[in-house]
Amino acid sequence: MNTHPPSADAADRPPADDTTASQPAATAQLQAQDSPLPNDGSATDAAHPSHIRSFVHRRGHITQGQRDALERLLEQWSIPYSPRLLDVTKAFGRQAPTILEIGFGMGETTEKIALSRPGDNFLGVEVFNAGVGSLLKRIEASAVPNIRIVQHDAVEVVRDMIAPDSLAGVHIYFPDPWPKKRHHKRRLIQPPFVKLLASRLAPGGYLHCATDWENYAEQMLEVLGAEPLLANTAKDYAPRPDYRPQTKFETRGLRLGHGVWDLIFKRVA
Ligand SMILES: C[S@@+](CC[C@H](N)C(=O)[O-])C[C@H]1O[C@@H](n2cnc3c(N)ncnc32)[C@H](O)[C@@H]1O
Repeated sequence: MNTHPPSADAADRPPADDTTASQPAATAQLQAQDSPLPNDGSATDAAHPSHIRSFVHRRGHITQGQRDALERLLEQWSIPYSPRLLDVTKAFGRQAPTILEIGFGMGETTEKIALSRPGDNFLGVEVFNAGVGSLLKRIEASAVPNIRIVQHDAVEVVRDMIAPDSLAGVHIYFPDPWPKKRHHKRRLIQPPFVKLLASRLAPGGYLHCATDWENYAEQMLEVLGAEPLLANTAKDYAPRPDYRPQTKFETRGLRLGHGVWDLIFKRVA
């Protein structure tokens, strides 16, 4: 059983304890464009009862470098949320297989994968201001051209901006585990959202989740396994594929004897 706190390395990952999973959009401009969900502690919203509230806005630490990056680079590399389908070809300036990443945190995995797969587009969705600033810094430092960011709730982005049958893949790495039972309703991997995600994948497209929380891994296996549009590529858990780098957080967890579970499902039709 994996019992360590999910965000043990606070310097590298956004906080994800059982009461606060994410940081807020810190600038007024971002908050205005964000239209965050009301922070009332409930896990769904009235207009969309199946809408999971997988994060809670809160003020958190942001470095000056991340703040600068947000000011200088956000406009260049991000796409504002809008309740209209995204023109992916226009957003990336080319037609290429597009991978959606939900909750990229500080973006180190996103950068590494995008650098190692130059032929793919990577659309990263994150609400956490310091994380977006961190990924913007990485995009500038490594001149990686194939990442775009939407700073908004991924549930709304998938629902409103992603065309059905369009994605080559979805990455959801170490989503907030919401370990307390009464908070499980905030977990992202639940049947209605997985159904929505599966509908956005092109036939043959993949959904890759990873978690270091055993009980969430079991939930993922059950929920993904029950979605008729998806088929498991492994008997149960998959070996970590070469394209997913082992993160610092993960390395530390493994050293401490914690488990990590990858799940890779494909859209069947
Ligand atoms: C535990 S962190 C993992 C970050 C990163 N994937 C990693 O492996 O280090 C989960 C991240 O998901 C983000 N997140 C949670 N719910 C989200 C949502 N609905 N939309 C966008 N991001 C979300 C949080 O802000 C947080 O940064």
